[in-house]
Amino acid sequence: MRVTINQIREMKEKGEKITMLTAYDYSTAKIVDEVGIPLILVGDSLGMVVLGYETTIPVTIEDMLHHTKAVVRGTEHAMVIGDMPFMTYHVSVEDALRNAARFIQEAGAQAIKLEGGVTVAEKVRRVVECGIPVMGHIGLTPQSVHQLGGHRVQGKSPEAALKILEDARALEEAGVFAIVLESVPAPLAALITEKVGVPTIGIASGVGCDGQVQIINDLLGSFTDFVPRHAKQYAKLADIIRGAVTEYFEEVRAGTFPTKKHSFSIDESILTELKAK
Ligand code: KIV
Repeated sequence: MRVTINQIREMKEKGEKITMLTAYDYSTAKIVDEVGIPLILVGDSLGMVVLGYETTIPVTIEDMLHHTKAVVRGTEHAMVIGDMPFMTYHVSVEDALRNAARFIQEAGAQAIKLEGGVTVAEKVRRVVECGIPVMGHIGLTPQSVHQLGGHRVQGKSPEAALKILEDARALEEAGVFAIVLESVPAPLAALITEKVGVPTIGIASGVGCDGQVQIINDLLGSFTDFVPRHAKQYAKLADIIRGAVTEYFEEVRAGTFPTKKHSFSIDESILTELKAK
């Protein structure tokens, strides 16, 4: 039985911290699920950490569905949340509904996430009315990176701080089951967490949120282009991968891999017969 939105809501009520982590492929999702992480986000951050783009903007719905399917296949317990990529919910309510439905119907996700507050509230309401759980995402919304002038902390001025609170309230009112707060000053994120009834999941927004989300490649140290200030590397996977690949490279060149253990034999008589042909 997978984690439900009611269980996530109850975690806020009980004061239990909520953990969310991204995953983009079958094998990684399987490990994350086995650990017991309740929420797995197939984030459009895959554009940067998996596909090598500079921003999330080039990511398509086909990219997202492809990876969401793999994550769903690798999991049994976690709620899998598919991230709606740029321009798949902006043009019209119909677009938002059709594309949200693809995550649920084709990819097997249990929920979707989309970026924006007041401006997307009507679309959120309609998607939720159709029975699709929606997670909101406000503060730094990377799909608007060019409008925001870079990946920078949001809500520093009184007007900007109020706007984030209003966005959170609009999303709650529209029916989201949780809200990602990205790059919001920690005291503001804590205040919003107090003021809204739905769980907040923070990234770069301090410990006062109801939960936390991290990009798995940052946490594992496998993405080496840069380490965001908010990320903690729990492992240095890039070094481990580099070491293993170097060893393999050297062993193949030295002829010490594969050994007999990694190879298969054949009846000597067959070989003798073949040699005579
Ligand atoms: O795409 C993503 O991974 C995200 C998280 C940073 C919340 O949106």
